[in-house]
Amino acid sequence: MGSDLEQMQRDMLGRIAAAADPAALEAERVAALGKQGAVTGLLKSLGAMSPEERQSEGPRIHALREAVTAAIASRKAALDGAALERRLATEQLDMTLPVAPPLQGSVHPISQVMDELAEIFADLGFSVATGPEIEDDWHNFGALEIPETHPARAMHDTFYMDRTDAEGRPMVLRTHTSPVQIRTMQAQKPPIYIIAPGRTYRSDNDATHTPMFHQVEGLVIDRGITLGHLKWTLETFLKAYFERDDVVLRLRPSYFPFTEPSVEVDVGYTLQNGRRVLGGADHWMELLGSGMVHPRVLANCGLDPDEWQGFAFGCGIDRLAMLKYGMDDLRAFYDGDLRWLRHYGFRALDVPTLSGGVGA
Ligand code: PHE
Repeated sequence: MGSDLEQMQRDMLGRIAAAADPAALEAERVAALGKQGAVTGLLKSLGAMSPEERQSEGPRIHALREAVTAAIASRKAALDGAALERRLATEQLDMTLPVAPPLQGSVHPISQVMDELAEIFADLGFSVATGPEIEDDWHNFGALEIPETHPARAMHDTFYMDRTDAEGRPMVLRTHTSPVQIRTMQAQKPPIYIIAPGRTYRSDNDATHTPMFHQVEGLVIDRGITLGHLKWTLETFLKAYFERDDVVLRLRPSYFPFTEPSVEVDVGYTLQNGRRVLGGADHWMELLGSGMVHPRVLANCGLDPDEWQGFAFGCGIDRLAMLKYGMDDLRAFYDGDLRWLRHYGFRALDVPTLSGGVGA
């Protein structure tokens, strides 16, 4: 009996190792371990044995079953691995192939504007920074000098999550891109010149507000930075973005907990046949919030306010897109209506460049 078992095990393991595909392997499994399988039969035969016989044969039969089970598992892993390799090999894409017309799809105006912003600010020496959309309380509020009791909290209509941060406070959907200021100052040494475009969230919904919207944050930290640098940077950016030299800005004193002084920036426009046309100074429209980074915010990020100064601004991207490309209802941006996308979308292969006019 003993050598029969050994012979049987050698045969079975040989067939299992030779199984060429999952179906063949499954057939071997059924033949050995299935209801009518050879190993199952041996296990059943234990019941009819004398106690002595069972004591000597039992462990051998169980060992056989274990050896066969392990061999099947390892053959299965090898076959699965090979199948994955084959799939990966056949599913390769050649990214260098030319795109076949007609091109389907278009670039959403928000993506287009983000590309334009990156292009304009890259020319001014800024790089693009990002941060998480699910933020902890400290990055979204605390480090920006908006403590829990601060009235500015109420202005943000925050979406709170069930998840909590390390201090047990609920995580939030970031209400602005300003937490990226904090993350950047923590992660890199000044001088810092970044913009941070991205999604932001507030519980708000009408023709000019959607619960998810987009902002671009700007942050400069260097030595000897003044409000004058802020004004020049915004003017240069907006002239390039709107592609006109007669863009006029008006800086109004304002308040944000994380900047001092704070300025709200209005842009001038004229009315032509009832439509707002940017440029001139007949009428004013609020465009963005900004200011000099508050010394306490610098200190919160481990920077010495006596050595480093800076400015920051935050601007709605959706608003920028509407002004430049003439949409009037923000909600249409997120309806996914193909007719709207075909009308306002941009050709997929057009990359904004300063030389071509960023919005070309
Ligand atoms: N985070 C502010 C907002 O969302 C805008 C802002 C950014 C103001 C940077 C000043 C400086 O309203």
